[in-house]
Amino acid sequence: MKNFEYKNPTKILFGEGQIASLNNEIPENAKVMLLYGGGSIKRNGIYEQVKAALHQRDTVEFGGIPANPEYEILLKALNEIKEEKVDYLLAVGGGSVIDGVKFLAAAALYEGEEPWDILAKNIGRDVGLPFGTVLTLPATGTEMNSFSVISRAETKEKLGMSGLGLFPQFSILDPKVVHSIPKRQIANGIVDAFNHVMEQYITYPANANLQDRIAEGILQTLIEVGPKVMNDPTDYNAAANFMWSCTMALNGLIQNGVPGDWAVHMMGHELTALHQIDHARTLAIIGPNHYKYNFENKKEKLTQFGERVWNITEGTMDEKAQKAIEHTIAFYHQLEVPTKLSEYTENYKGSSQFIVDQFTKRGWTGIGERGDLTPDDVKKIVEMSY
Ligand code: NZQ
Ligand code: ZN
Repeated sequence: MKNFEYKNPTKILFGEGQIASLNNEIPENAKVMLLYGGGSIKRNGIYEQVKAALHQRDTVEFGGIPANPEYEILLKALNEIKEEKVDYLLAVGGGSVIDGVKFLAAAALYEGEEPWDILAKNIGRDVGLPFGTVLTLPATGTEMNSFSVISRAETKEKLGMSGLGLFPQFSILDPKVVHSIPKRQIANGIVDAFNHVMEQYITYPANANLQDRIAEGILQTLIEVGPKVMNDPTDYNAAANFMWSCTMALNGLIQNGVPGDWAVHMMGHELTALHQIDHARTLAIIGPNHYKYNFENKKEKLTQFGERVWNITEGTMDEKAQKAIEHTIAFYHQLEVPTKLSEYTENYKGSSQFIVDQFTKRGWTGIGERGDLTPDDVKKIVEMSY
Protein backbone atom coordinates (compact mmCIF):
# COMPACT_ATOMS: atom_id res chain seq x y z
CA MET A 1 0.00 0.00 0.00
CA LYS A 2 1.27 3.49 -0.83
CA ASN A 3 1.65 6.18 1.83
CA PHE A 4 -1.25 8.58 2.07
CA GLU A 5 -2.70 11.59 3.86
CA TYR A 6 -6.46 11.82 4.22
CA LYS A 7 -8.62 14.64 5.43
CA ASN A 8 -12.29 15.10 4.60
CA PRO A 9 -13.95 17.91 6.54
CA THR A 10 -17.43 17.71 4.96
CA LYS A 11 -20.26 17.03 7.40
CA ILE A 12 -22.96 14.77 5.96
CA LEU A 13 -26.59 15.01 7.02
CA PHE A 14 -28.20 11.94 5.51
CA GLY A 15 -31.82 10.88 5.34
CA GLU A 16 -35.42 11.85 4.91
CA GLY A 17 -36.34 15.25 6.34
CA GLN A 18 -32.75 16.47 6.79
CA ILE A 19 -33.31 19.57 4.64
CA ALA A 20 -35.26 21.01 7.57
CA SER A 21 -32.02 21.27 9.60
CA LEU A 22 -30.33 23.43 6.99
CA ASN A 23 -30.49 26.65 8.97
CA ASN A 24 -28.50 25.22 11.87
CA GLU A 25 -25.52 24.60 9.61
CA ILE A 26 -25.15 28.17 8.31
CA PRO A 27 -23.66 30.88 10.52
CA GLU A 28 -26.33 33.17 11.91
CA ASN A 29 -25.07 36.43 10.45
CA ALA A 30 -24.06 35.08 7.06
CA LYS A 31 -25.18 36.83 3.90
CA VAL A 32 -26.29 33.80 1.93
CA MET A 33 -26.62 33.29 -1.81
CA LEU A 34 -28.79 30.31 -2.82
CA LEU A 35 -27.70 28.94 -6.20
CA TYR A 36 -29.55 26.44 -8.34
CA GLY A 37 -29.85 25.05 -11.86
CA GLY A 38 -32.44 25.20 -14.60
CA GLY A 39 -35.45 25.09 -12.31
CA SER A 40 -36.08 21.43 -11.41
CA ILE A 41 -36.03 22.44 -7.72
CA LYS A 42 -39.02 24.71 -8.31
CA ARG A 43 -41.03 21.84 -9.79
CA ASN A 44 -40.24 19.09 -7.30
CA GLY A 45 -40.73 20.95 -4.02
CA ILE A 46 -37.06 21.09 -2.99
CA TYR A 47 -36.97 24.88 -3.37
CA GLU A 48 -39.92 25.28 -0.97
CA GLN A 49 -38.29 22.96 1.55
CA VAL A 50 -35.04 24.93 1.40
CA LYS A 51 -36.82 28.28 1.70
CA ALA A 52 -38.84 27.03 4.66
CA ALA A 53 -35.69 25.73 6.34
CA LEU A 54 -33.94 29.08 5.89
CA HIS A 55 -36.81 30.77 7.78
CA GLN A 56 -36.66 34.54 7.45
CA ARG A 57 -33.01 34.76 6.46
CA ASP A 58 -32.06 37.51 4.09
CA THR A 59 -30.87 35.54 1.04
CA VAL A 60 -30.11 36.45 -2.55
CA GLU A 61 -30.67 33.88 -5.28
CA PHE A 62 -28.97 32.94 -8.51
CA GLY A 63 -30.68 30.41 -10.76
CA GLY A 64 -29.86 29.10 -14.21
CA ILE A 65 -26.56 27.29 -13.73
CA PRO A 66 -26.71 24.85 -16.66
CA ALA A 67 -25.61 21.22 -16.82
CA ASN A 68 -21.83 21.30 -17.40
CA PRO A 69 -21.58 24.62 -15.55
CA GLU A 70 -20.67 27.36 -17.96
CA TYR A 71 -17.97 29.86 -17.14
CA GLU A 72 -19.72 32.89 -18.70
CA ILE A 73 -22.84 32.29 -16.60
CA LEU A 74 -20.80 31.78 -13.45
CA LEU A 75 -19.11 35.14 -14.04
CA LYS A 76 -22.56 36.78 -13.74
CA ALA A 77 -23.04 35.07 -10.38
CA LEU A 78 -19.56 36.20 -9.35
CA ASN A 79 -20.51 39.83 -10.03
CA GLU A 80 -23.61 39.50 -7.88
CA ILE A 81 -21.65 37.86 -5.07
CA LYS A 82 -19.31 40.84 -5.04
CA GLU A 83 -22.06 43.47 -5.41
CA GLU A 84 -24.22 41.96 -2.70
CA LYS A 85 -21.26 41.21 -0.41
CA VAL A 86 -22.31 37.59 -0.11
CA ASP A 87 -20.18 35.59 2.32
CA TYR A 88 -21.86 32.16 2.29
CA LEU A 89 -22.92 30.07 -0.71
CA LEU A 90 -25.64 27.44 -0.68
CA ALA A 91 -25.74 25.09 -3.68
CA VAL A 92 -29.02 23.30 -4.26
CA GLY A 93 -28.61 20.92 -7.18
CA GLY A 94 -26.61 18.19 -8.84
CA GLY A 95 -22.94 18.08 -9.76
CA SER A 96 -23.19 21.04 -12.10
CA VAL A 97 -24.62 23.45 -9.53
CA ILE A 98 -22.28 22.27 -6.77
CA ASP A 99 -19.21 22.42 -9.04
CA GLY A 100 -20.26 25.89 -10.19
CA VAL A 101 -20.51 26.99 -6.56
CA LYS A 102 -17.07 25.55 -5.82
CA PHE A 103 -15.65 27.61 -8.66
CA LEU A 104 -17.42 30.70 -7.30
CA ALA A 105 -16.12 30.02 -3.80
CA ALA A 106 -12.58 30.10 -5.19
CA ALA A 107 -13.16 32.94 -7.65
CA ALA A 108 -14.72 35.21 -5.01
CA LEU A 109 -11.40 35.27 -3.16
CA TYR A 110 -9.16 35.21 -6.23
CA GLU A 111 -7.21 38.38 -6.81
CA GLY A 112 -5.96 37.75 -10.35
CA GLU A 113 -7.61 39.40 -13.36
CA GLU A 114 -8.95 36.37 -15.19
CA PRO A 115 -10.74 33.81 -13.00
CA TRP A 116 -10.37 31.17 -15.74
CA ASP A 117 -6.69 31.06 -14.78
CA ILE A 118 -7.70 29.24 -11.59
CA LEU A 119 -8.51 26.32 -13.90
CA ALA A 120 -6.17 26.90 -16.84
CA LYS A 121 -3.10 27.50 -14.69
CA ASN A 122 -4.19 24.94 -12.14
CA ILE A 123 -3.90 27.27 -9.17
CA GLY A 124 -4.64 25.17 -6.09
CA ARG A 125 -7.43 26.70 -4.03
CA ASP A 126 -6.84 26.16 -0.36
CA VAL A 127 -9.14 29.00 0.59
CA GLY A 128 -12.59 29.83 -0.68
CA LEU A 129 -15.86 31.31 0.51
CA PRO A 130 -17.56 28.82 2.82
CA PHE A 131 -20.42 26.89 1.25
CA GLY A 132 -22.85 24.07 1.90
CA THR A 133 -24.92 21.90 -0.42
CA VAL A 134 -28.31 20.26 -0.73
CA LEU A 135 -27.71 17.44 -3.20
CA THR A 136 -30.56 16.79 -5.64
CA LEU A 137 -28.89 14.24 -7.93
CA PRO A 138 -26.67 11.39 -6.71
CA ALA A 139 -23.85 10.87 -9.21
CA THR A 140 -20.63 12.84 -9.02
CA GLY A 141 -19.61 12.66 -5.36
CA THR A 142 -18.90 16.40 -5.47
CA GLU A 143 -21.00 16.80 -2.30
CA MET A 144 -18.12 15.29 -0.30
CA ASN A 145 -14.99 16.11 -2.27
CA SER A 146 -12.94 19.12 -3.29
CA PHE A 147 -13.11 18.74 -7.09
CA SER A 148 -14.94 20.91 -9.55
CA VAL A 149 -15.22 20.70 -13.33
CA ILE A 150 -16.12 23.84 -15.30
CA SER A 151 -16.95 24.23 -19.01
CA ARG A 152 -16.21 27.12 -21.33
CA ALA A 153 -18.19 26.99 -24.57
CA GLU A 154 -16.18 29.76 -26.23
CA THR A 155 -13.00 27.68 -26.25
CA LYS A 156 -14.62 24.20 -26.15
CA GLU A 157 -12.83 23.49 -22.87
CA LYS A 158 -13.83 21.57 -19.77
CA LEU A 159 -11.27 21.77 -16.99
CA GLY A 160 -11.04 20.53 -13.43
CA MET A 161 -9.71 22.05 -10.24
CA SER A 162 -9.37 21.03 -6.62
CA GLY A 163 -8.10 22.33 -3.31
CA LEU A 164 -8.72 22.09 0.40
CA GLY A 165 -10.88 25.23 0.28
CA LEU A 166 -13.35 23.50 -2.03
CA PHE A 167 -14.83 20.94 0.34
CA PRO A 168 -18.44 21.75 1.23
CA GLN A 169 -18.81 22.56 4.93
CA PHE A 170 -21.89 20.35 4.95
CA SER A 171 -24.00 18.40 2.48
CA ILE A 172 -27.58 17.33 2.95
CA LEU A 173 -28.43 14.00 1.33
CA ASP A 174 -32.14 13.25 1.39
CA PRO A 175 -32.87 10.16 -0.76
CA LYS A 176 -36.38 11.49 -1.38
CA VAL A 177 -34.96 13.95 -3.92
CA VAL A 178 -34.49 10.94 -6.22
CA HIS A 179 -38.31 10.75 -6.79
CA SER A 180 -38.30 13.44 -9.46
CA ILE A 181 -35.07 12.59 -11.30
CA PRO A 182 -35.70 11.52 -14.92
CA LYS A 183 -34.66 7.95 -15.77
CA ARG A 184 -31.90 9.15 -18.04
CA GLN A 185 -30.27 11.16 -15.23
CA ILE A 186 -30.57 8.25 -12.79
CA ALA A 187 -28.76 6.06 -15.32
CA ASN A 188 -26.10 8.76 -15.64
CA GLY A 189 -25.65 8.80 -11.87
CA ILE A 190 -25.18 5.03 -11.68
CA VAL A 191 -22.69 5.00 -14.56
CA ASP A 192 -20.74 7.99 -13.23
CA ALA A 193 -20.35 6.53 -9.74
CA PHE A 194 -19.47 3.12 -11.23
CA ASN A 195 -16.70 4.75 -13.25
CA HIS A 196 -15.40 6.71 -10.28
CA VAL A 197 -14.75 3.41 -8.57
CA MET A 198 -13.27 1.87 -11.73
CA GLU A 199 -10.77 4.74 -12.13
CA GLN A 200 -9.42 3.98 -8.65
CA TYR A 201 -9.73 0.19 -8.81
CA ILE A 202 -8.94 -1.07 -12.33
CA THR A 203 -5.26 -0.20 -12.20
CA TYR A 204 -2.66 -2.63 -10.81
CA PRO A 205 -2.61 -4.53 -7.51
CA ALA A 206 -1.33 -2.36 -4.65
CA ASN A 207 -1.90 -4.65 -1.64
CA ALA A 208 -4.70 -2.38 -0.48
CA ASN A 209 -7.09 -5.14 0.51
CA LEU A 210 -9.58 -2.98 2.36
CA GLN A 211 -9.75 -0.30 -0.35
CA ASP A 212 -10.32 -3.06 -2.92
CA ARG A 213 -13.11 -4.63 -0.86
CA ILE A 214 -14.81 -1.27 -0.33
CA ALA A 215 -14.51 -0.51 -4.07
CA GLU A 216 -16.03 -3.92 -4.90
CA GLY A 217 -18.78 -3.31 -2.35
CA ILE A 218 -19.73 -0.03 -3.99
CA LEU A 219 -19.75 -1.62 -7.46
CA GLN A 220 -21.89 -4.53 -6.24
CA THR A 221 -24.31 -2.17 -4.53
CA LEU A 222 -24.68 -0.08 -7.68
CA ILE A 223 -25.31 -3.22 -9.74
CA GLU A 224 -27.88 -4.39 -7.20
CA VAL A 225 -29.82 -1.19 -6.56
CA GLY A 226 -29.23 0.74 -9.80
CA PRO A 227 -31.88 -1.05 -11.88
CA LYS A 228 -34.31 -0.91 -8.91
CA VAL A 229 -33.99 2.88 -8.69
CA MET A 230 -34.42 3.18 -12.45
CA ASN A 231 -37.64 1.16 -12.27
CA ASP A 232 -38.97 2.89 -9.18
CA PRO A 233 -37.31 6.10 -7.97
CA THR A 234 -39.73 6.18 -5.02
CA ASP A 235 -38.16 2.99 -3.57
CA TYR A 236 -36.62 4.77 -0.55
CA ASN A 237 -34.16 2.07 0.43
CA ALA A 238 -32.88 1.58 -3.10
CA ALA A 239 -32.54 5.37 -3.49
CA ALA A 240 -30.71 5.67 -0.15
CA ASN A 241 -28.22 2.95 -1.08
CA PHE A 242 -27.73 4.47 -4.53
CA MET A 243 -27.14 7.91 -3.02
CA TRP A 244 -24.61 6.81 -0.43
CA SER A 245 -22.76 4.64 -2.98
CA CYS A 246 -22.32 7.68 -5.23
CA THR A 247 -20.89 9.73 -2.36
CA MET A 248 -18.58 6.94 -1.19
CA ALA A 249 -17.29 6.39 -4.73
CA LEU A 250 -15.53 9.75 -4.79
CA ASN A 251 -14.96 11.07 -1.29
CA GLY A 252 -11.32 10.03 -1.25
CA LEU A 253 -11.72 6.90 0.88
CA ILE A 254 -11.01 4.30 -1.80
CA GLN A 255 -8.27 6.43 -3.37
CA ASN A 256 -6.09 6.18 -0.27
CA GLY A 257 -2.91 4.21 -0.79
CA VAL A 258 -3.71 3.09 -4.34
CA PRO A 259 -2.82 4.27 -7.85
CA GLY A 260 -5.46 6.27 -9.72
CA ASP A 261 -6.07 6.14 -13.46
CA TRP A 262 -8.52 8.95 -14.43
CA ALA A 263 -7.67 8.68 -18.15
CA VAL A 264 -11.29 7.73 -18.90
CA HIS A 265 -12.51 10.95 -17.28
CA MET A 266 -9.86 13.01 -19.09
CA MET A 267 -10.95 11.69 -22.48
CA GLY A 268 -14.62 11.81 -21.50
CA HIS A 269 -14.49 15.48 -20.52
CA GLU A 270 -13.24 16.30 -24.02
CA LEU A 271 -16.18 14.44 -25.59
CA THR A 272 -18.55 16.55 -23.49
CA ALA A 273 -16.74 19.76 -24.46
CA LEU A 274 -16.82 18.78 -28.14
CA HIS A 275 -20.22 17.10 -28.54
CA GLN A 276 -22.17 18.09 -25.38
CA ILE A 277 -22.66 14.42 -24.46
CA ASP A 278 -23.70 13.90 -20.80
CA HIS A 279 -20.64 13.32 -18.62
CA ALA A 280 -21.51 9.76 -17.52
CA ARG A 281 -22.28 8.66 -21.08
CA THR A 282 -18.81 9.69 -22.23
CA LEU A 283 -17.41 7.31 -19.60
CA ALA A 284 -19.56 4.45 -20.89
CA ILE A 285 -18.19 5.15 -24.37
CA ILE A 286 -14.50 5.34 -23.45
CA GLY A 287 -14.20 3.06 -20.38
CA PRO A 288 -14.62 -0.40 -21.90
CA ASN A 289 -12.28 0.41 -24.81
CA HIS A 290 -9.71 1.83 -22.40
CA TYR A 291 -9.68 -1.53 -20.56
CA LYS A 292 -9.46 -3.44 -23.83
CA TYR A 293 -6.59 -1.30 -25.09
CA ASN A 294 -4.69 -1.52 -21.77
CA PHE A 295 -5.64 -5.13 -21.20
CA GLU A 296 -2.16 -6.47 -20.38
CA ASN A 297 -1.49 -3.72 -17.80
CA LYS A 298 -4.88 -4.01 -16.17
CA LYS A 299 -5.68 -7.69 -16.43
CA GLU A 300 -4.90 -8.67 -12.85
CA LYS A 301 -7.41 -6.18 -11.50
CA LEU A 302 -9.87 -6.93 -14.31
CA THR A 303 -9.74 -10.60 -13.33
CA GLN A 304 -10.29 -9.77 -9.66
CA PHE A 305 -13.19 -7.51 -10.70
CA GLY A 306 -14.65 -10.37 -12.77
CA GLU A 307 -14.35 -12.90 -9.98
CA ARG A 308 -15.49 -10.77 -7.07
CA VAL A 309 -17.98 -8.36 -8.63
CA TRP A 310 -19.43 -10.36 -11.51
CA ASN A 311 -18.97 -13.79 -9.89
CA ILE A 312 -17.18 -15.21 -12.94
CA THR A 313 -15.73 -18.54 -11.93
CA GLU A 314 -14.98 -20.28 -15.25
CA GLY A 315 -12.06 -19.77 -17.62
CA THR A 316 -8.47 -18.60 -17.69
CA MET A 317 -7.34 -15.28 -16.24
CA ASP A 318 -7.58 -13.64 -19.69
CA GLU A 319 -11.05 -15.05 -20.27
CA LYS A 320 -12.32 -13.85 -16.90
CA ALA A 321 -10.90 -10.38 -17.50
CA GLN A 322 -12.48 -10.23 -20.98
CA LYS A 323 -15.82 -11.40 -19.61
CA ALA A 324 -15.67 -8.74 -16.89
CA ILE A 325 -15.45 -6.05 -19.58
CA GLU A 326 -18.38 -7.63 -21.47
CA HIS A 327 -20.49 -7.75 -18.28
CA THR A 328 -19.76 -4.07 -17.70
CA ILE A 329 -20.90 -3.14 -21.22
CA ALA A 330 -24.04 -5.25 -20.75
CA PHE A 331 -24.74 -3.42 -17.47
CA TYR A 332 -24.56 -0.05 -19.23
CA HIS A 333 -26.91 -1.36 -21.91
CA GLN A 334 -29.29 -2.63 -19.22
CA LEU A 335 -29.36 0.97 -17.96
CA GLU A 336 -30.17 2.10 -21.53
CA VAL A 337 -26.82 3.84 -21.93
CA PRO A 338 -25.31 3.35 -25.43
CA THR A 339 -21.57 2.66 -25.48
CA LYS A 340 -20.48 3.87 -28.94
CA LEU A 341 -19.70 7.48 -29.82
CA SER A 342 -21.47 7.11 -33.18
CA GLU A 343 -24.70 6.42 -31.29
CA TYR A 344 -24.56 9.99 -29.90
CA THR A 345 -23.30 12.05 -32.83
CA GLU A 346 -22.78 11.79 -36.58
CA ASN A 347 -19.75 14.09 -36.40
CA TYR A 348 -17.55 11.74 -34.44
CA LYS A 349 -14.69 11.34 -36.88
CA GLY A 350 -12.51 14.29 -35.88
CA SER A 351 -12.88 13.56 -32.14
CA SER A 352 -9.64 11.63 -31.67
CA GLN A 353 -7.52 14.37 -33.27
CA PHE A 354 -9.34 17.10 -31.28
CA ILE A 355 -8.58 15.28 -28.03
CA VAL A 356 -4.95 14.61 -28.97
CA ASP A 357 -4.48 18.29 -29.85
CA GLN A 358 -6.00 19.45 -26.53
CA PHE A 359 -3.91 17.02 -24.49
CA THR A 360 -0.71 17.92 -26.34
CA LYS A 361 -1.39 21.64 -25.91
CA ARG A 362 -1.74 21.13 -22.16
CA GLY A 363 1.28 18.86 -21.87
CA TRP A 364 -0.83 15.83 -20.93
CA THR A 365 1.47 13.44 -22.76
CA GLY A 366 1.73 10.67 -20.18
CA ILE A 367 -1.57 9.77 -18.47
CA GLY A 368 -3.10 6.77 -16.70
CA GLU A 369 -1.97 5.07 -13.49
CA ARG A 370 1.50 4.48 -14.90
CA GLY A 371 1.80 7.85 -16.63
CA ASP A 372 2.69 6.04 -19.84
CA LEU A 373 -0.32 6.62 -22.12
CA THR A 374 0.80 8.86 -24.96
CA PRO A 375 -1.36 11.00 -27.26
CA ASP A 376 -1.00 8.22 -29.83
CA ASP A 377 -2.50 5.71 -27.35
CA VAL A 378 -5.30 8.16 -26.57
CA LYS A 379 -6.04 8.52 -30.30
CA LYS A 380 -6.36 4.75 -30.66
CA ILE A 381 -8.62 4.38 -27.60
CA VAL A 382 -10.93 7.15 -28.83
CA GLU A 383 -11.07 5.60 -32.30
CA MET A 384 -11.90 2.18 -30.80
CA SER A 385 -14.87 3.99 -29.19
CA TYR A 386 -16.37 5.32 -32.45
O1 NZQ B 1 -30.70 22.18 -13.78
P1 NZQ B 1 -31.87 21.54 -13.16
O2 NZQ B 1 -33.16 22.12 -13.61
O3 NZQ B 1 -31.77 21.45 -11.67
O4 NZQ B 1 -31.95 20.02 -13.73
C1 NZQ B 1 -30.90 19.09 -13.57
C2 NZQ B 1 -30.12 18.90 -14.85
O5 NZQ B 1 -30.89 19.16 -15.98
C3 NZQ B 1 -31.52 17.73 -13.35
N1 NZQ B 1 -31.81 17.43 -11.94
C4 NZQ B 1 -30.99 17.50 -10.87
N2 NZQ B 1 -31.61 17.09 -9.76
C5 NZQ B 1 -32.88 16.77 -10.12
C6 NZQ B 1 -33.01 17.00 -11.50
N3 NZQ B 1 -34.17 16.79 -12.16
C7 NZQ B 1 -35.21 16.37 -11.44
N4 NZQ B 1 -35.17 16.11 -10.11
C8 NZQ B 1 -34.02 16.30 -9.41
N5 NZQ B 1 -33.97 16.01 -8.09
O6 NZQ B 1 -30.53 16.83 -13.81
C9 NZQ B 1 -29.81 17.43 -14.88
C10 NZQ B 1 -28.35 17.12 -14.75
O7 NZQ B 1 -27.80 17.75 -13.61
P2 NZQ B 1 -26.23 17.86 -13.41
O8 NZQ B 1 -25.98 18.57 -12.15
O9 NZQ B 1 -25.59 18.41 -14.65
O10 NZQ B 1 -25.79 16.33 -13.32
P3 NZQ B 1 -24.62 15.62 -12.54
O11 NZQ B 1 -24.89 15.60 -11.09
O12 NZQ B 1 -24.44 14.35 -13.25
O13 NZQ B 1 -23.34 16.57 -12.75
C11 NZQ B 1 -22.57 16.52 -13.90
C12 NZQ B 1 -21.40 17.49 -13.81
O14 NZQ B 1 -20.49 17.11 -12.75
C13 NZQ B 1 -19.17 16.98 -13.28
C14 NZQ B 1 -19.43 16.58 -14.70
O15 NZQ B 1 -18.29 16.76 -15.51
C15 NZQ B 1 -20.58 17.48 -15.08
O16 NZQ B 1 -20.12 18.78 -15.39
N6 NZQ B 1 -18.39 16.06 -12.44
C16 NZQ B 1 -17.97 16.50 -11.25
C17 NZQ B 1 -17.18 15.75 -10.42
C18 NZQ B 1 -16.73 16.26 -9.10
N7 NZQ B 1 -16.91 17.54 -8.83
O17 NZQ B 1 -16.20 15.51 -8.28
C19 NZQ B 1 -16.71 14.41 -10.79
C20 NZQ B 1 -17.42 13.86 -11.97
O18 NZQ B 1 -16.58 12.91 -12.55
C21 NZQ B 1 -17.84 14.84 -12.99
O19 NZQ B 1 -16.79 15.20 -13.86
ZN1 ZN C 1 -17.41 11.32 -13.28
